Amino acid sequence: MGRIAIVTGSDRGMGKETALALAHHRYTVIMACIDIPNANITCDEIKRLSDNQNVFVKKIDLSSIASIKEFARAFLQDFDQVNILINNAGIVTMNHEITEDGFEKTMAVNTIGPYLLTKLLAPHFPAGEDNRIINMSSWIYKFGKFSIDKMNRYHYVKAYAVSKYAQLLITLELADELKKKGITINAANPGTVRTTIMYTNIKFYDFIIDMLMAPLYISIEEGAKTGIYLATSDEVKNKTGNLYRKCKPIAVSKKFNNKTIRTKLLQYYETIFEKFN
Ligand SMILES: NC(=O)c1ccc[n+]([C@@H]2O[C@H](COP(=O)([O-])OP(=O)(O)OC[C@H]3O[C@@H](n4cnc5c(N)ncnc54)[C@H](OP(=O)(O)O)[C@@H]3O)[C@@H](O)[C@H]2O)c1
Repeated sequence: MGRIAIVTGSDRGMGKETALALAHHRYTVIMACIDIPNANITCDEIKRLSDNQNVFVKKIDLSSIASIKEFARAFLQDFDQVNILINNAGIVTMNHEITEDGFEKTMAVNTIGPYLLTKLLAPHFPAGEDNRIINMSSWIYKFGKFSIDKMNRYHYVKAYAVSKYAQLLITLELADELKKKGITINAANPGTVRTTIMYTNIKFYDFIIDMLMAPLYISIEEGAKTGIYLATSDEVKNKTGNLYRKCKPIAVSKKFNNKTIRTKLLQYYETIFEKFN
């Protein structure tokens, strides 16, 4: 089967572009998706475009811990290792929704779910190989100042910003621990990309914001480049614990890279993992 990559949310947008790139690189690609009919269509397209038949769809709903565990179980039943995990899937929600496990939905899909998936899969990266985890962050993390006690109370754009900030902090915090297991972990900021996430759950004034933002949008191909670079380039083979933009590491200022919050966040996520594992 060769090297194996999992890409969450790969039936459309940057996840699809990333899965296609990895299929071109002759990876066995597991598309971890929520919309199975659409994922099957995309899977066929990726196989045809890459001439790689080792592309498979498996169901995951990152808002549900039961579904994440079921995905890990089903994956490990068919495959005995993973080399690359791309935590790409993400949402913006207009309403304040609480998941079946008791978490605000944006937080669940964008950062808690990916953390649990990372934890479940980490023991299955092979020792001594080139193993990588890539988390999707965003420039919006700078608006995501949060308090852990209020994690379930944020909503809409604030919840999205908090989730992306938390996802960045947890990437930085996990780097040392994963390094001991021979896994690198980095975050990608793709820029502002014209994908469906920009058009779902919109409010009336978002049309005005959209018109103003339009000149800044980049294509899906352009936006996916940094994540693909982190997954495939030899230049970053041993690099870990960084945020990348346009395929270059960018500094996270001390104002945002707060060790106390990082440690507390990891403890919070660990408590969730232990409770549900
Ligand atoms: N677009 C931007 O400007 C931008 C900027 C910075 C960061 N990002 C991040 O980049 C990543 C990719 O986003 P995109 O822009 O490519 O958006 P997209 O086209 O909307 O793709 C998002 C993907 O996530 C999947 N997803 C949603 N809810 C899910 C769930 N509960 N379980 C599993 N998968 C789920 C979606 O599946 P369905 O559509 O089939 O439901 C879709 O495949 C996200 O993490 C996003 O936050 C995007």
